[in-house]
Amino acid sequence: MRSSGAIAVALSVLALLGQALAFKANEFKTCSQSSFCQRLRNVPPEHKFVLRSDTVAADETGFVTAKIAVVGESAEGLYHDDLDFALAAYGDGVVRLKVSQPGRFEVPEVLMDDLKQVPLVSVSKTGSQQTLEFLDSKVVLTFDPIKVEVYGNKKSTSPTVVFNENGLFDFERQRKPGGASGSESWPETFGSHSDSRPNGPMGLSIDVHFPGVSHVFGIPERATAFSLKPTKELSSKGHTLHEPYRLYNLDVFEYLHDHPFGLYGSIPFITAKKSGSTSGAFWLNAAEMYVDVRKGGEGTSTQWVSESGVVDLFFFVGPEPKDVTRQYAAMTGTTQMPQLFSLGYHQCRWNYKDEEDVASVDRNFDLHGIPCDVIWLDIEHTDGKRYMTWDKAHFPTPEKMQGALEEKGRKMVTIVDPHIKKDDSYPVFKEASGKGYFVKKKDGTDFDGWCWPGSSMYLDMLDPEIRKWWATLFVPQAYKGSTESLYIWNDMNEPSVFNGPEITMHKDNLHHGGVEHREVHNIYGYLYHMATADGLVYRGQKSKAKPSDRAFVLSRAFFSGTQRVGPIWTGDNTADWDHLRVSIPMCLTLGVSGLTFSGADVGGFFGNPDTELLTRWYQLGIFYPFFRAHAHIDTKRREPWVHGEETMSRIRSAIQLRYSLMPYLYTLFHQAHKDGTPVMRPIWYEFPNQEAAYSTQDAFLFGQALLVSPVLEPGAKSVRVSLPGDDLWYDLLGEDVHDAKVSPSVDVAVTMDSIPVHLRGGTIVPRRMRPRRNTKAMTHDPYTIVVALDKVQEARGSVYVDDGSSFDYKEKRKFLRSTFVFKHYRLENDVYHNGLYFSNASTMVEKIVVRGLTKKISAIDAGRMTIKYFECTQDKSGLWTLVIKKPGLSLTENWSLKMRGH
Ligand SMILES: *[C@@H]1O[C@H](CO)[C@@H](O)[C@H](O)[C@H]1NC(C)=O
Ligand SMILES: *[C@@H]1O[C@H](CO)[C@@H](O)[C@H](O)[C@H]1NC(C)=O
Repeated sequence: MRSSGAIAVALSVLALLGQALAFKANEFKTCSQSSFCQRLRNVPPEHKFVLRSDTVAADETGFVTAKIAVVGESAEGLYHDDLDFALAAYGDGVVRLKVSQPGRFEVPEVLMDDLKQVPLVSVSKTGSQQTLEFLDSKVVLTFDPIKVEVYGNKKSTSPTVVFNENGLFDFERQRKPGGASGSESWPETFGSHSDSRPNGPMGLSIDVHFPGVSHVFGIPERATAFSLKPTKELSSKGHTLHEPYRLYNLDVFEYLHDHPFGLYGSIPFITAKKSGSTSGAFWLNAAEMYVDVRKGGEGTSTQWVSESGVVDLFFFVGPEPKDVTRQYAAMTGTTQMPQLFSLGYHQCRWNYKDEEDVASVDRNFDLHGIPCDVIWLDIEHTDGKRYMTWDKAHFPTPEKMQGALEEKGRKMVTIVDPHIKKDDSYPVFKEASGKGYFVKKKDGTDFDGWCWPGSSMYLDMLDPEIRKWWATLFVPQAYKGSTESLYIWNDMNEPSVFNGPEITMHKDNLHHGGVEHREVHNIYGYLYHMATADGLVYRGQKSKAKPSDRAFVLSRAFFSGTQRVGPIWTGDNTADWDHLRVSIPMCLTLGVSGLTFSGADVGGFFGNPDTELLTRWYQLGIFYPFFRAHAHIDTKRREPWVHGEETMSRIRSAIQLRYSLMPYLYTLFHQAHKDGTPVMRPIWYEFPNQEAAYSTQDAFLFGQALLVSPVLEPGAKSVRVSLPGDDLWYDLLGEDVHDAKVSPSVDVAVTMDSIPVHLRGGTIVPRRMRPRRNTKAMTHDPYTIVVALDKVQEARGSVYVDDGSSFDYKEKRKFLRSTFVFKHYRLENDVYHNGLYFSNASTMVEKIVVRGLTKKISAIDAGRMTIKYFECTQDKSGLWTLVIKKPGLSLTENWSLKMRGH
C-alpha cells in the first residue's frame, strides 16, 4: 500500500475527495519520455541482420548456433559476426531463440533447472533457408534478413508464430560515447532525476507475429481489457500510435481502471488465440519494456522493445490453451502447492490497532458464524516501521495474540517490506550495513531512499548470499515475538522509493557483480519474495515443534517464476464499480500468464464502498484464487458485521459458499501445481473454439466446472448469462437447468442475496457442506459429491486431499486422489493413496447428489451393501435429481454404485 509519500496525511483527505484525479500521470514516463522506446518503437533498424548460413552448427549442449552479421554502413564501418544466435527446442512444443553478445546481462533464477532439451534435426537447407525438426514441430530459418518461423505441426503450411516478420528486430550494440553516431546525449533526465546511462544505448527490439490471430492476452500487470486492444492502428487516415503497454514494476498511486500503464509486476509472456490454435511467446528480460499490438487481416503483430539485456525468447506452439500454459510452466515453473489455510478468507486492514482490536475481530467472526482463516497486520504494528519488530504499546504480547488465534485454527500475517530503516539501533539494519548488503549508488556508496520509515536502504536481493542471510531472519529467535503460525506479506517491493524516479530506484544504482538496477528492475521484487518464502521454509526446517510447512508469503511485485513462490494481489485498487469490474480481466490475465494465485482487495482499498458494492464484491471475491478483504487507513471500518444484519448475512453466505467448495478449490490448486492450469479461467480456456467468447471478461470459469457471472452494475435486477458450449448448465444455488444449445444466453433474475453461478453438465464437484469457523475446523468433515450429468448422462471429476500444509505429499507421497466417473448409470470412485496415511473416518462421504437424470432411480446397488436412504425428485424441466444420504462410503476405498430405474 502507499499513501502519497511524505505528505501523506495532508493529501489523504484530498485523495478521498477526488479519487479520479489522484492518479498522477506526470509522475510516470510514457514511451515518448524514454529514449530507447523512441529510438526503437516502430522504427526499422539502421542495419540489416543476416543469419550467416555457413555458421549454422549444432553445439554439444543441443543448441543450434550461428552468427548474425550486422550489415550496413555506419560511422564505425561494417560490422561482422557481431551477434551470437542460438536455437533450442524443449519437449512438448517449446522453441527458444537467443541473440546475445558477450558481457550482456542474462536474467537468473527464473528458468527451471531441469529443462528437457530435445534434438533439433536439420532436414533441408537451401541458399536462403534451413529447416529443422523436433518431435511434431519444425522451425524454418530464413537467412537474409533473419526470420524464424515456428510450426506447431511439421505438415502445416502456415507457421504458428514468426520472429521478425515485419523486420523490426533490432539490437543496439554497445559503443563508446562521443562517436559520430553517438550524437545522443547519454545521461537522460526525467523530472528532477538524471540517469547517467554509463553504457549508452543498449536497447533491443523484437518482432513477433501470430498469423491468423485476432486476440492476444497477457503481459500483466495493468488494469485494462482482457483481450489486449491494439496500440498501433492502420486506418484510411494512416498510422495511429497509442501508448504501448509498459512492463516496469511501479508503485502506482490510485491507478486507473483502464490504462495501458504497467503496474506493480511484469510477466513478459503473451498468449495468442485463434480458432483451432493457441500459442504464446515469452521474452526472458527484466529491464524496462514496451509492447505494441497491431491487428490486421493477416494476424496480430507485436513489437517488444527493451532497454537492455539479451534476446532470450521462447515460443509455445500449443495447440490447446492447456498446452500453452503447460509449456510455459515447463520453462518457468508451476504454482507452489499452497497451504490450505491460505485458500480461506483473509481479513486485512491498514491497520488493526492493537491486540484488543485483533481479539475483537477474531471474536466477531465466531460470534457471527463467519468463516475466516487469517487476520493481517499492516505497517502500523511495527516499532517505527522497523519490520520484524512490534509497537510495544499496542502489541505488548504478540506471541500470546498469535497463540489465541492459533487455538482457534487461525493464522496471522504481518507485513515485511524491503526498505530497511536507516538506524544503527535496528539490528537488521546494523547487520546488513556492516556486511555491505545494500544496493549501491553509481559511486559505490550505499543508496539511501525515502519510504515508510523515512530514510531507508534496500537489500541487494540479486546476491544469493544476501537472500540466504535474509532467509535466516524468520526463525522466532531472530524475529522476536513471532510464532510458527505467523506468515508474511511483502509490500512495496517494486521497489517503492518515494523520492526516486517514478517512485522507484535509480536505474544506474548498482547490484551484486556491478550489475545496474536497469537490468534487474523487474525481478527485484520476485527475488525478495523468494528469499522471504525461503525464510519460512527455513523456519520450518529449524522447528522442533512441528513438521516443516509450506511458505505463505503474499507479494505485490512479481515476475515470471513468482508462481513458484506464492500469491500476489492486484495492489491498491479503489472502492468503485470500475475497479470491481476490472479485477476480473486482471486476474484472468495473471492466470493465463502462469500466476494463478492472485486476487484483488475485496471492497476496494481506497474509499468507502456502500453496502451494495461491498456485497457484490464479496460475491465475486469468493471466486478469486486469493480471497482477502483490505482497506486503507483513512476508510471506515468495514468488517462483515459492521453493516447490519442483512448485509452481514449475505456476506456470510458468500464466504460459506467458498468454504463449501474448498475440496474442489484445493483440487484445482493441485492441478495448477502439476501443470500450470489456472484456477480462474477465461471461457476460451475450456471452450477454445467459441470465438464469440474470446474477449469475455464479465464472466469466467472457476475451474472446469463452475461458470461465474457476477453482478457488476449497481441496481441490477438480472444478469445476462452466456452459456458456453452446447450442453447443460445447472444453477448451483437453485433448481434451474439450461441447455446451452437451445438458449446460449439467458437472463437470470438476481436479488442482493447472490450472483449467478452455474454448474457445468458433465462434471463432478467435491464439497464439504458443514459451516465451520475456518479450514482447520473442516479437517474431519465428511464430503458431499455433486454429480452434474451432461446430455448423454455422463460426468467426471476428482478430488485431491493431503494434510494441507507439509511437504509430505511430495516427500512421502502422503496424498489421496479420487477420480469419479458416472457412466451407464454407474458412479465409480477409483482412488489412489499409498495405504499408510488416510483413515476412512476423515474421508467419509455423507451425501451424493446426482442432477440431470433422465429417469427415476428406484434401486442402488453398492456391491456388498445396498443403499437404503435415497430419494429421487423431478424438477420442472422434467429431469430427476437423486440424493443419497449417508451411503456409508469413504474416499479411501474404491467403490461403484449401480443405479437402476425407469
Ligand atoms: C473403513 O475401512 C475398513 C478397513 O479398511 C473397512 O473394513 C470398513 O468397511 C471401512 N468402513 C467404511 C464405512 O467404509
Ligand atoms: C482402486 O483401484 C485401482 C485400479 O483401478 C487400484 O490401482 C487402486 O490401488 C485401488 N485403490 C485402493 C485403495 O484399493
